[in-house]
Amino acid sequence: MKRALITGVTGQDGSYLAEFLLGRGYEVHGLIRRASTFNTSRIDHIYTDPHEEGARFFLHYGELTDGSRLVTLLSRIQPDEVYHLGAQSHVRVSFDEPEYTGDTTGVGTTRLLEAIRMIGLDCRFYQASSSEMFGATPPPQNELTPFHPRSPYGAAKVYGYWMARNYREAHGMYAVNGILFNHESPRRGETFVTRKITRGVARIKAGLEETLYLGNLDAVRDWGYAKEYVEGMWAMLQADEPDDYVLATGTAYTVRDFVEIAFEHAGLDWEKHVRFDERYLRPSEVDALIGDASKAADELGWKAEVLTPELARLMVDADYETALAEVRSKG
Ligand code: NAP
Ligand code: GDD
Repeated sequence: MKRALITGVTGQDGSYLAEFLLGRGYEVHGLIRRASTFNTSRIDHIYTDPHEEGARFFLHYGELTDGSRLVTLLSRIQPDEVYHLGAQSHVRVSFDEPEYTGDTTGVGTTRLLEAIRMIGLDCRFYQASSSEMFGATPPPQNELTPFHPRSPYGAAKVYGYWMARNYREAHGMYAVNGILFNHESPRRGETFVTRKITRGVARIKAGLEETLYLGNLDAVRDWGYAKEYVEGMWAMLQADEPDDYVLATGTAYTVRDFVEIAFEHAGLDWEKHVRFDERYLRPSEVDALIGDASKAADELGWKAEVLTPELARLMVDADYETALAEVRSKG
């Protein structure tokens, strides 16, 4: 039985990836942060008591800032595949917390790679790189496009990207970079723009709220469905040779387009509900990200099927169910 370790297992992608790997018969280990409250809502449905016979999903406390803990865990678990998804992943927040973002999102990658090297673990390593690394370089962007990060988060991801490549080139490690364009789902964090919009639409339609405050509506993004993207992560680690791949839909929508699609699906007029708030602007913006994933299609057979309009609608539907449940619970 193959064994995988996922950092960031409590996040959007980590939860879909854990499900996917369990479905393929893997034993799955996840790194979680100790918190005073429960932070496992995205994975509660797949959790099994480790005392149960046949349990294949195990959680371990750990932190990307704690290198010695990573050494202990890796040597104990001995994974065949390590999916490094853990990060402070919010671009706007990275401007407020640049040092912490650099420490976790950037140096966290080095701590994990170095832990693998120190204990001589023979495993395959996936680095969650990001289209945010392209930043100001105009689209379409592919694996050969120069990086020009526009945020502390983007800069930290560029560092992580090069560390993964360096461990591949210097130490012969099987390390790959998945350069993923924005991918969303009903499990997306509530402060990323798509989920903020679909949740806002659902709550307005359910009568729980009236107004949705947003920043820059002109930014262009290539939004795909997270559930499909984790399959691409896995496919990268099954290739004969380690390499770097872009995953994207290749389509382009503005934030305004996404707003229009989401409100229209709910039968609402967005202009009656959306207001501008400058606090959601960034000191430097990434104007347009549109990916060219033809290498992943040719070499891995991976292709995005769910495109932005369908994604927006399925997210609104999921959020509307939740909003209705809240209305019912209030009597
Ligand atoms: P997410 O929902 O924000 O999840 C981030 C995960 O990292 C959470 O499990 C979080 O734990 C964990 N984490 C944060 N800081 C940590 C620390 N110091 N130590 C240990 N764990 C820590 O992100 P996502 O959307 O699933 O994205 C997964 C990865 O792909 C991230 O590295 C992200 O930067 C990258 N990426 C995402 C996209 C996208 O569009 N979603 C695109 C390109 C790249 P808590 O639950 O405790 O907070
Ligand atoms: N979050 C947010 N909130 N963004 C807003 C808002 C708002 O109220 N209003 C407008 N936007 C705009 C942002 O300025 C940005 O141009 C765009 O919406 C998308 O913002 P986010 O959803 O926060 O995502 P992101 O593109 O900055 O970063 C995401 O994608 C990256 C891949 O390109 C994150 O998931 C990163 O972790 C990921 O690497």
